Amino acid sequence: MNKRIEEVLNKQIELEASSSHHYLGMASWAENAGYNGVASFLYAHSDEERQHMLRLVKFVNERGGKAIIPSLKSDVISFESLQEVFEQLLSHEVAVTNSINEVVFICLEEKDYTTHTFMQWYVSEQLEEEALARTILDKLKLIGNDKGGMYLFDRDLENFQADSIANEQA
Ligand code: FEO
Repeated sequence: MNKRIEEVLNKQIELEASSSHHYLGMASWAENAGYNGVASFLYAHSDEERQHMLRLVKFVNERGGKAIIPSLKSDVISFESLQEVFEQLLSHEVAVTNSINEVVFICLEEKDYTTHTFMQWYVSEQLEEEALARTILDKLKLIGNDKGGMYLFDRDLENFQADSIANEQA
């Protein structure tokens, strides 16, 4: 495998792993704060990021490269509000999108069209993830400090989770 491509894919592996780890911390915080719906949404999101990482690990290894499994720091994560959680999530996703765009750019520079095709799945996934994070933030802005609204929001995210799992299994 082209060394430059191997290097950027390993950087992407690290970023996906850190996304998974970070969202796991957010999920645990939400669970302790009593937002069970938000917690189950974030636990599932953390699992998805792990899948994103695994997909890259397998791709690198199958193509003759060496995937590097990163070690992760454990930060104590604490938030002032759900708004802060989802603002961080969105800005993290924007950073991931930028990184994926960079990988795609390097694939073109290196004329590695196989990896370029493989990365298109990530490009579409990022579109969806950013859109979802923005929709959630818009909802939170509308709710403001309304406790009843927050209760429904939490329940909606739990249902959203159940719906998307049902769709995946259908
Ligand atoms: Fe796999 Fe949301 O970045």
